[in-house]
Amino acid sequence: MKSYIGIDLGTSGTKLLLVSADGRILAENTQTYEVFYPQSGWSEQNPADWFAAAMRGLKELLQGQDKSAVKGISFGGQMHGLVALDAEDNVIRPAILWNDGRTEKQTAYLNTIIGKEKLSAYTGNIAFAGFTVPKILWVKRNEPENFKKIAKIMLPKDYLIYKFSGCFATDLSDASGMLLLDVKNRRWSREMCEICGISEEQLPALYESYEVVGTLKREIAEELGLSAEVKIIAGAGDNAAAAVGTGVVGEGGCNISLGTSGTLFVSSAEYKEDRVNALHSFCHADGGWHLMGCILSAASCNAWWSEKVLQTDDYAKEQAGLEEELGRNDVYFLPYLMGERSPHNDVNARGAFIGMRPDTTRKQMTLSVLEGVTFALRDCLEAAKKNGVKIERTKLCGGGAKSTLWRKIVANVMNMPVDIPQTEQGPSYGAAMLAMVGCGEYASVRQAAEAIVRVKETVLPDRQTAERYAEKYKNFTKFYPALKGVFADKI
Ligand code: XUL
Repeated sequence: MKSYIGIDLGTSGTKLLLVSADGRILAENTQTYEVFYPQSGWSEQNPADWFAAAMRGLKELLQGQDKSAVKGISFGGQMHGLVALDAEDNVIRPAILWNDGRTEKQTAYLNTIIGKEKLSAYTGNIAFAGFTVPKILWVKRNEPENFKKIAKIMLPKDYLIYKFSGCFATDLSDASGMLLLDVKNRRWSREMCEICGISEEQLPALYESYEVVGTLKREIAEELGLSAEVKIIAGAGDNAAAAVGTGVVGEGGCNISLGTSGTLFVSSAEYKEDRVNALHSFCHADGGWHLMGCILSAASCNAWWSEKVLQTDDYAKEQAGLEEELGRNDVYFLPYLMGERSPHNDVNARGAFIGMRPDTTRKQMTLSVLEGVTFALRDCLEAAKKNGVKIERTKLCGGGAKSTLWRKIVANVMNMPVDIPQTEQGPSYGAAMLAMVGCGEYASVRQAAEAIVRVKETVLPDRQTAERYAEKYKNFTKFYPALKGVFADKI
């Protein structure tokens, strides 16, 4: 049977899946790399590390597998990152990532001097610090020599596409997060290019996520032992890829992802704009659109708390016995370790514990971290409701979704059933599905989702616990406004 490879270029590492045409996972592999934090609130990675990790991962993934069965490769990628190449295809500077907050001034310039109305008219979105355009403006202002050298601007996964196929290409879901795309009309915005002082020639060709952009370069195919006819399919931003992987396509589906970032993703057959300037309005990988709220630190808060502070990686032990405490915890946690995107759009926000007493325990603080992240996602749900979106149930994926405790917290804080897909590797599975569609295995992304995505378990909210969490959430919403002024002083 034919097989397909999905590569999820994440922030903590690259995850690769080899999937058969009927959706079975034949092999998986993960490669990690570093994130660099050169200054408070900055985050960068080296594109060369991504490529090396992808090549290492592919070699390990394919060991002992039938390489002649592989027909297509596609990608899910961390969004918004600025990768800039010079005329000789050298990477000009380290990539500036999606959760980098150095662009406060550029974001303010875009939202106030250019104005939110114009930005929304050109792109369907206002400026958030993590988006690519504020980064381009930052380089223009702070590194003019680098800016002058830029021949190609691309997103992280597009760097892999370029290295694998030689094609300078991106897909519409990922391109949406640049603030350079006219999302409604699915084309580059001439006005935004002018604002940045760049031309369309510096931008990749646009494809739908399931379209073929080219084939493997001969030398890469040889190194991997694959055919040079293996197709490279455009792929998607990691959240759109995750939504495909969890079957959230078409109208009105919802997926929550608990990865390094946390997202609430609502798929839509029609283009919709966010009226409250809290969510993103982007193209989806199925040919439609989506609204999405993104919090910058989700499972990464739990990783920070467990590994850096408690010095343990035994997450199950830390979370044992906490189910009785659901909805009763008096300790609160603000998860803004890297500032916050949705809904606050505040690069200066920082994490905080609130409400500790002499009898507060380590367990309660652990619980507060999981709850705080979930309350922040509830903020995104409230923003979606303000836009008139009705969400009655959600899928859940990402590393955090492995925790049965966290699944229950999500079901009760959101007060809705939570469906756990059989495959929790949302973006890499979705990427493999996009490769299948590109290679003609399924007629559409929807058909692929109907044929192979399965739910293995549904977690239901408990009425009393959900009521208690509704009260706790009211308290949570008071903390950010109270601390905003303190954060603005850059504590
Ligand atoms: C979405 C976002 C993050 C990254 C994480 O807008 O910034 O979810 O895509 O990889």
